Amino acid sequence: MSQIFETDQQYLMPGIQQIASRSQLVIERGEGAVLWDEEGKSYIDLFAGVGVCSIGHSHPRFVATITEQLNKVIVGSFSTKVRAEYGELLASVTPENMDRYQLFSCGSEAVEAALRLARSYTKKSNFLSFWGGFHGKTLGALGLCGVDFKNDYQPLPPGYTKVPYAECYHCPFNLKYPECKLACVDFARKTIEQELKGNLAAIVVEPMQGTNGNVIPPATFLPALRQLASDFDALLIVDEIITGFGRTGQMFASDSPDINPDVIVVGKGMANGLPISGLISNDEFSSAEPFAKPSGSSSSFGGNPIVSAAALATLQVILDENLVENSQKVGSWFLQELQKFQECYPFVGKVQGKGLTIGIELNRDKDPNRPLEKEITNEIFDRTIRAGIIMMCYGAKIRINPPLCISQELGEKALVAMQAVFDSIANDYF
Ligand SMILES: Cc1ncc(COP(=O)(O)O)c(C=O)c1O
Repeated sequence: MSQIFETDQQYLMPGIQQIASRSQLVIERGEGAVLWDEEGKSYIDLFAGVGVCSIGHSHPRFVATITEQLNKVIVGSFSTKVRAEYGELLASVTPENMDRYQLFSCGSEAVEAALRLARSYTKKSNFLSFWGGFHGKTLGALGLCGVDFKNDYQPLPPGYTKVPYAECYHCPFNLKYPECKLACVDFARKTIEQELKGNLAAIVVEPMQGTNGNVIPPATFLPALRQLASDFDALLIVDEIITGFGRTGQMFASDSPDINPDVIVVGKGMANGLPISGLISNDEFSSAEPFAKPSGSSSSFGGNPIVSAAALATLQVILDENLVENSQKVGSWFLQELQKFQECYPFVGKVQGKGLTIGIELNRDKDPNRPLEKEITNEIFDRTIRAGIIMMCYGAKIRINPPLCISQELGEKALVAMQAVFDSIANDYF
């Protein structure tokens, strides 16, 4: 074990991300979509800090912009040139009429703010969210999550109801899309009517479920939720913390006239690794009180000059270097190649994706109800790290989300290494 890793772990609390604890990597530096460890070994980064590193590691324009701002002022509250410039540029890429924003420091904090905004505007109390969804670890955000670990933190605040997501590979109704006619949305409608008696402040949804394994719902799911929210005079809050800023091959996954979100929550890739998150909405919703009262929406670090500079440089690079298009192009190629794994390997059940967000589900006998054993998935992870690839493959749902700047050439190298690992697993375990 590395001395640095040992010292780090001696003082850190347990509970760090599995990718860090299992790999025991000590990262020294990064460039583009490549990372180097303390011994100089290089790794192709298909992880990007869970989709955080959007424009690539150590981008020169990003470094220069932050450095320049560091030498001016870093404490926030007042208006600064960089934040004003950022607001203007952001409004130019957000969906129509969504030209109000507020900044926070992490995704969970922005999700909490979205809930406060929804209650301020609608004067109603309940939230509807989805099985398998993840929205953060603060208690309000945790209430929205459809993941098991939240159950150990009971009691959670009241006012949260969860219904099945359109995760068709695991349809709880045992139906097939499109014959199902979105039975999950029908179920959600009945739940709002029967359990909530129509008292609904907002539907909160990820356009694709990242933490649940990069699950892509059918294209009609979000438009149907739009309709559902409108039918109950509730807001549609789309959590684009992972998907925002090009990750799915569109600037925002929910930017479509038939989804027309009321609030978009962003974070992660917004400033390429610096802690910033935000809400995007319109004049009408964001003027609702108490959210809009003095100090009602602000926070200590939200939108400080350094993170504003980082977000500005990130968005400029995304636009100037056509990274949304790159995400679409390299992502489509990668998905097509990885979908061949479904035919080649007996333990690959489903490969799905959009842009540079790809999920691979590993099953025994291709049975969706039998996730591949942890012993084997851990082995896949260890072999992948040894092969110089960093990706979230320590569980039965593999997540691939490289920096948006990754080239197809580098993707090809990663693909060859992945094939070698999968071949060796097929050989040794099947
Ligand atoms: C969709 C989504 N929402 C919210 C969050 C919480 O963000 P943070 O960890 O920055 O609080 C995450 C984090 O993974 C996420 O994936």
